[in-house]
Amino acid sequence: MAGQAKNIRPLVAGNWKMNGVKASAAEVEAVKRALSEAKPAIPADVMIAPPAPLISAFSTVAAGSDIAIAGQDCHPKVSGAHTGDVSAEMLKDAGAEAVIVGHSERRSDHGESSAVVNAKASAAHRAGLTAIVCIGETRGERDAGLTIKVAGRQLKDSLPQSSTAANTVVAYEPVWAIGTGLVPSTADVAEVHAAIRADLINRFGDEGAAMRILYGGSVKPDNARELLAIANVNGALVGGASLKASDFLAIVRAYQRG
Ligand code: 13P
Repeated sequence: MAGQAKNIRPLVAGNWKMNGVKASAAEVEAVKRALSEAKPAIPADVMIAPPAPLISAFSTVAAGSDIAIAGQDCHPKVSGAHTGDVSAEMLKDAGAEAVIVGHSERRSDHGESSAVVNAKASAAHRAGLTAIVCIGETRGERDAGLTIKVAGRQLKDSLPQSSTAANTVVAYEPVWAIGTGLVPSTADVAEVHAAIRADLINRFGDEGAAMRILYGGSVKPDNARELLAIANVNGALVGGASLKASDFLAIVRAYQRG
């Protein structure tokens, strides 16, 4: 696709949020089957992040396929007296290869600061998981012209020094675009992703140049091709449209050649 850095393999990740039951593994089966039948193979990594209780079952279904399973959050510590929490090591043990940290819904529902997100990303690295670190401005911040400043600040504070291109993915998700059907203009996405790339290179050098930067917020089958072709957009973090295999696959197929 136009706009893609040749050496960065894109990632399309589905964030199921608080949706799904055991029977939803049928969607993972359907994605698995379609990916195995795709010829030529679709040149993108594919990931599904179900709620924690489904990680083990989904990992079993995804085994032997190109689908990686991820958690949606982790506690900074390995274990201990933290009722209701799940550690990065537990996610890994259940079959996860990655974990989303700092999603705006965690930041708002649970008051997570970027410092907490940084500790969670460190925990992911400690456990051998890829940290998918989310950042993004609110509507008010965008209207006030603060988008680049807010995203830059969250990026700086949320990414631990242990971040590499292999163990970290940045997801830019404007809060006002999540679940609303609203999407920033192509130029606006390009501007923010370019700023993130510059910051990453500044701090992490070659690793920052190779780190994946996903766009998230109302990615759908009908806008995926345009969004994913933008420079420095190395994939998508998909919410609602990831719950049904057919929609999710339509987004993944934006990377299909021809
Ligand atoms: P929607 O795709 O439903 O807007 O959600 C985006 C998101 O929050 C992914 O993490």
